[in-house]
Amino acid sequence: MAFHLFGKKRKAQTVPEKIPAHVAFIMDGNGRWAKKRGLPRTAGHRAGVITIRRVIRHCCDRGVKAVTFYAFSTENWSRPQQEVDTLMDLFVEFIDSEIDELDAQGARVRIIGSRQGLSERVMASIEKAQTRTQNNERIFVNIAFNYGGRAEIAEAVQRMMRDGIGPDEVSEAVIGEYLYTAGQPDPDLVVRTSGEQRISNFLLYQSAYAEYLFPEILWPDVDEEALDGFFAAYAKRDRRFGNAKE
Ligand code: FPP
Repeated sequence: MAFHLFGKKRKAQTVPEKIPAHVAFIMDGNGRWAKKRGLPRTAGHRAGVITIRRVIRHCCDRGVKAVTFYAFSTENWSRPQQEVDTLMDLFVEFIDSEIDELDAQGARVRIIGSRQGLSERVMASIEKAQTRTQNNERIFVNIAFNYGGRAEIAEAVQRMMRDGIGPDEVSEAVIGEYLYTAGQPDPDLVVRTSGEQRISNFLLYQSAYAEYLFPEILWPDVDEEALDGFFAAYAKRDRRFGNAKE
């Protein structure tokens, strides 16, 4: 049976039986997507933003509690200046164009990452998105922007020391409370698109027991069907958290 979703004819999908509470995406392949079409890399990033919107909607529909997108890493500053500028512009445009819908969806937006080196314009966008949605409870939407996992841990340790946390008070739970994702479930599933198999400094502490998927699909091509496919693959995984098989 076929049905219409967002005006597009799609095959009926079975709802995956197990949905991750937190799913995190390394959105790789924008450049290759653009190249295949003879477009500049930045067009791939623009297409990638449309995918983010689609993914948030579908995660909400499926009952995901937290979703994280790796939009700009601390290493991405070394890309050509024009590409860096585009990514900064896209961030501001994304907040401007999506904030109403995100708020209406009950999304609590967090921009996770270092604030060092960000322009006042980007900082104002961050403030706007976080303040506007701070009381929402349906889903956490984390945008990892100027993010690095090691830097996050270093920053957490600095703040713990400044807060006078003594050596005997340090525990895994306390460290978790000092990370950018405090109060959220750890990622159950991390997906890196485009077939690359690296974690690139992403959510290092939080993903200790995550399941990983490295599908070949390029990020701009990810749609509802592909997402349900990721969730179905996740549902098949036998998660043991270090325990022996029965
Ligand atoms: C990797 O693809 C992707 C990035 C470095 C940036 C991801 C950013 C977006 C999807 C848009 C920005 C969104 C916001 C909200 C700011 P790549 O360029 O490395 O692709 P390639 O490996 O095919 O060259």
